[in-house]
Amino acid sequence: MSDEKTAARVWQVDERWTGRIRLPNVEKDTPQDEEWCEILENGEWSKVRFHDYAHIYERPGLYEALFYGLMKCDSPRRVVGLLKDLRTEPDWPQEPLRVLDLGAGNGIVAEELRRAGASRVVGLDILPEARMAAARDRPGVYTDYIVDDLCQPSATTKARLNDMRPNALVSVAALGFCDIPALAYYNAASFVRPGGALAFNIKEEFLDARYTHGFSELLRRMVEERVVRLEATRRYIHRYGIAGQPLHYTAMIATKMTEIPRSMVVDP
Ligand SMILES: C[S@@+](CC[C@H](N)C(=O)[O-])C[C@H]1O[C@@H](n2cnc3c(N)ncnc32)[C@H](O)[C@@H]1O
Repeated sequence: MSDEKTAARVWQVDERWTGRIRLPNVEKDTPQDEEWCEILENGEWSKVRFHDYAHIYERPGLYEALFYGLMKCDSPRRVVGLLKDLRTEPDWPQEPLRVLDLGAGNGIVAEELRRAGASRVVGLDILPEARMAAARDRPGVYTDYIVDDLCQPSATTKARLNDMRPNALVSVAALGFCDIPALAYYNAASFVRPGGALAFNIKEEFLDARYTHGFSELLRRMVEERVVRLEATRRYIHRYGIAGQPLHYTAMIATKMTEIPRSMVVDP
């Protein structure tokens, strides 16, 4: 598929991805969750939405080439780096990290966590294609990898997460759009005992007061009611948009102080 608006920016930046990627010429105000590119495979161009993760994970190297090579995504390093930095504080718990990686994708975050010394990393994603890609691309980085919808976790999922007793919940590039619902985040955080860490990033505008639902509202309520204590926040460039503009996110680390009241979850 081709399009007269398609720009001549054509890339090949990951050796496992043998096709090509090209970006459309678009206005800066194209919503982030509507971004797309075209990929060349077997001599044919086709359109791929950035949020069609299943389609992307099925193609070895495409996720890395698109988001990390072309769009310069830096979030796994930023979020895990902030967590690692805080752990050097003298009064921070020194036990090894046992991390639940929520919205895990194909394991780039887990790789950073292992580099930071995590002893156990359990991945959780709603897509079977994500688990397949993690096993294919980064075998061994996960202790376990669960495919489930945490809005309604199965009994097996609950047993596996209770068994691992995570002391950190990490979620990178998976909160704030129509990705992980507040209820799924709430359920994931319930497996982390008080004193554990919550590490995540969020697009900066989702911290505005006008976002009164979903994860934005849950976060606001948790901070205001001191259910969590914010330890560090850092504004940075998550990646670039398809019009070349920087997309600013905030990386945050919080300590879970008490169990989160269910009433703090406002759907959707
Ligand atoms: C942008 S990717 C980020 C992947 C990985 N964290 C990274 O930074 O490379 C967002 C991921 O969140 C996952 N996701 C979306 N909704 C989800 C949900 N309700 N529960 C679990 N994972 C979800 C997607 O399948 C996708 O793998």
